[in-house]
This record gives sequence, structure tokens and C-alpha cells, in this order.
Amino acid sequence: MPSILARLATKAKENQEAIVSQPQDPQLATNPLYVRHSARAKADKPPIRSSPLGAVAQVRFPSGSRREMVEGILAQDRDLVAGSFGTVYYKPVTVCGIELKLEPVQPSIGTVVHGIDLATDLEDSEMVTFLRELWLQRRVIMFRGQDHLTREQMVTFAQRFGELGAQFGEREHMPNSPHDLNQQVKVDGIPNMLVLPSDETVPNAASGWHADATWQARPPMASILMCREAPPVGGDTCFCDCYGMWEGLPLEIKERLERLTAVHIGSVGHQMNGVTPVAVHPVARTHPETGRTTLYVQQGFVRRFAEEHGVPEDEEKALLWRMKLQEGRPEYTCRFRWEPGSIAMWDNRCVLHTASADFWPHRRLMERLTILDYDESRRTPYYAPVEY
Ligand SMILES: [Fe+2]
Repeated sequence: MPSILARLATKAKENQEAIVSQPQDPQLATNPLYVRHSARAKADKPPIRSSPLGAVAQVRFPSGSRREMVEGILAQDRDLVAGSFGTVYYKPVTVCGIELKLEPVQPSIGTVVHGIDLATDLEDSEMVTFLRELWLQRRVIMFRGQDHLTREQMVTFAQRFGELGAQFGEREHMPNSPHDLNQQVKVDGIPNMLVLPSDETVPNAASGWHADATWQARPPMASILMCREAPPVGGDTCFCDCYGMWEGLPLEIKERLERLTAVHIGSVGHQMNGVTPVAVHPVARTHPETGRTTLYVQQGFVRRFAEEHGVPEDEEKALLWRMKLQEGRPEYTCRFRWEPGSIAMWDNRCVLHTASADFWPHRRLMERLTILDYDESRRTPYYAPVEY
């Protein structure tokens, strides 16, 4: 039996051959955009440096040749994962007769729930209630070893927490953009699932802080991500606590921001029939379940405040910058390393997330579902002012 390192190295090698010969999903093989993107790899050129994926690759192994970079980075990877630590800290709890271990990822955000089978252990509503409360408290909960879940079972899992959303939440705006390769991959029987291949020819690693689909008038409550293929190192997703982002702002800034709304604009990949989605939301958002305030601005989709406020350009710039500085501060942020079968479920109302596009020449394959709040009255963001 080859060691795990030898297996990873073999898998990475196989992937490299696949990148230049065939896509992760055969549906992309004849897509003109895919074919255009893959031309660089076929010509032995490394990924474009101006992309995060290419920039990290360049930092890790500067070289003119793609092949040399692949070999160099694979050698670094073998070195980086050459050993492991055995100590993991957790809190033991028993729910519905099942012994769980809750591993905190960071003090304020993220818990990995060990000891549960999401295909069979959620029949009892007490378990669902427990997980929902944990999720509200910890913002994002993660699971490992769930690769046996079929896509249909993922849907069942999602529906225990709310109403299954479309690929981008509400059905009012359902993107059908030819510019987003992820949307070209269709899942038989589950149109609501978004399949997210990531490699150098499909470089949409979603790197950049955002909450999902805030350009919708009623953005999805939650998202679930399942990892089907993971790089041996890299490709983590980072999650940032928006309660912390709000709390970290100086009082005078909070007092100014809480009276403002911001314009959230989707990208070209979010267009439906050529129309770019736009929504206006309060900058300070009251979480409809916890009642606490979150900073509801992420500069992936927000460039300006609503015009009606008449915020002078200089002040607008300064305020956007103050908010930007809150994104991804280590104190509010946790980082989750993916393995095939890892799942994360996060609260889009109080969490930003970003992928780490550092895994080239490896690949990553994810599946995403969105969840809408059962209670429709809680779907539209609002702000109920609080005293400071
Ligand atoms: Fe996302």
C-alpha cells in the first residue's frame, strides 16, 4: 500500500496530465471559453500572473515554464505535508445518543463537528435543532468524512435547515451568463446545485471576500459547500465574522454608517439575460435571528452608497476604506482546510468567505447549495438601530 504522500503525488501528476488533455467535467470540453483558457497550459505557459492563482504560483516557484513550475511546486508540497501532529482540542457532547466532538477553529468563528453521519443522523429533529443553534452561535459549522453523501442526500441535508434555494438563492434573478464557466456544468435532476471546478482553465476560485448573492433583494440565508476533490495543500476557504467586523469599527464610524445603505452590484457572471443584478441593503444589518448587528458590506459587490444619502466622494472613499480594513482580519477569521467529503455550512447574514487561490497546479472540485429562510419575513435585510 503506497503512503498517503506517494498517493497524493501520483494524483497530482495525473491531474496535471488531465489539465492539458481534458477538463474535470466533460461538459466543458467543447466550450469555446474553456478551450481558449486551456490554450496557455497546452502551450506550457504558467497561469497569468495577474490572477491570484498565478501570483501565488509565481511566488512559490518563479520560472518561465509551466512544466518546471509544476514539478517545483509538487516538490514543495511533498515537503510541506511530510509529517503530522496528533493533537486536536475539542468539546465532547452527546446529542440523540450520538457522541460528538466539537472542535473550535477560532475563538469567535467556526466549529468542526466530528462523529456525525449527515446521511443518517439527522432523522431526529433534536439533532437538527442542536446543529442549527451551534451554527447560529459559531457562524460556520464544518463536517468531515461525508464523501458518501450523494447529491440528493446533500439536498435533503440542506432542506432540514430551510428552503432549498436556486444556484444563487432566490428565483427572482437566476444567472444564465455565458461568461461563468461554473454555470455551464449542469447537474442532472438537481438544477439548484452549483458545481464549482477550479483549475487554471476554470480559475473562478471565488477568491475575494464576499457573501453569496448579496446583489439579490433577498440574499440566501446560508450556503453549503461540499468538497469532492481537494489539493493536498492549499485551496482553503476562509470565513470572516461580520459581527466582529462591525464591532471593530470606531464608534463615530458606526454612527455614520448605520444611517446608510449600500449598492450591491453583481458581476458579469451574475447576469440574467444580459442584465446585471443590483440591490440596495443597509450597511449595518440586524441579524434576524440573533438580533445582533453585522457589517453587511463586502467590497466584492459594493462600490458605493445609495445616492439618496448624498455622501461626498471623499467621505465615501474613506468610509469604504475603513470597512475594507475589517475584511479578513485574523481576529475575526478562521480557515478551513478541505478534504474530499468535507462540508461547510455558513450563515451568509453574518459571514464573509473567500477561497484561497494558492493551489495551482492542483485542482479543486466543490458542490454548492443555497438555503433560504423558511420565514419569508426574515429574508430582506433590515437594520433596527441599537444604542451605543
Ligand atoms: Fe461564495
